[in-house]
Amino acid sequence: MTDAPVNPNKALWEKGDFTRIAETMRESGEALVRRIGITRGLKVLDLGCGDGTTALPEAQLGAEVLGVDIARNLVEAGNRRAAEHGLTNCTFQEGDASNLHQLKDQTFDLVVSIFGAMFAPRPFEVAKEMVRVTRPGGRIVMGNWIPNDPTLVAQILKISSAYTPPPPEGFVSPMTWGVESHVTERFEAAGVPAAKISFARDTFTFHYPGTASAFVGEFRKYYGPTMNAFDAAEKNGRAAELQRELEALFNSQNQGKGGTSIPATFLRVTVGR
Ligand SMILES: C[S@@+](CC[C@H](N)C(=O)[O-])C[C@H]1O[C@@H](n2cnc3c(N)ncnc32)[C@H](O)[C@@H]1O
Repeated sequence: MTDAPVNPNKALWEKGDFTRIAETMRESGEALVRRIGITRGLKVLDLGCGDGTTALPEAQLGAEVLGVDIARNLVEAGNRRAAEHGLTNCTFQEGDASNLHQLKDQTFDLVVSIFGAMFAPRPFEVAKEMVRVTRPGGRIVMGNWIPNDPTLVAQILKISSAYTPPPPEGFVSPMTWGVESHVTERFEAAGVPAAKISFARDTFTFHYPGTASAFVGEFRKYYGPTMNAFDAAEKNGRAAELQRELEALFNSQNQGKGGTSIPATFLRVTVGR
């Protein structure tokens, strides 16, 4: 028997335990879902759904939700959480945003992808797939981190990249999904006129009950991209330096009194089909 080749995109997100970070994002996930026009019976695809930070609130508002994610452990966690909340209108399955072959054309009224599809390779295929599975008259809503933004997540990814080896030739940075011209180009190539694509700045706030430095520890132990940065930094004897840089970032952005509360800006993209 030969082992299946490793998919680095899948391996990255199955590494660690993203649910630990997702726990700190629930409040903003619920608040965002309340702003995107969910109605009873709406057919929603939540793509790159993780363990359901936005999928569960969508279902709680009465939508029929399918969560799709590349990471098996997060799909399992999502299904567990939906069952714990008694939600029979929310199911999770494995899938790749770059190739949603298991989903039929024009199936969903709304495709939501909050910091999800942006991490899939082949962004033009991702846009094409999201458009293909959305019904005419439906919508796509994406939340994408913004490159070089001064707030938390863009800075974590920027700092981390300085400690990791350069990506392979041809790699397209997920952060390009935070640049309006790239997003427009990708959806136009998928057949959507630019007039149907709109952008807004929005905020997600991370809430963690411990100190900002302890919150860095959660990223180091459980968040795939940060774990990889520390693995690489350790090999070069630079792990302490990376830890210091991240602690300085988290502490400088912490607005919490007692616990940790850090806002992060993202690009909200709305596409009409
Ligand atoms: C930062 S997490 C966000 C999860 C969730 N949307 C949330 O807001 O908590 C990124 C998610 O995208 C998923 N992902 C990454 N690449 C993917 C791909 N090619 N197809 C589907 N999901 C993917 C990861 O497994 C992970 O759950």
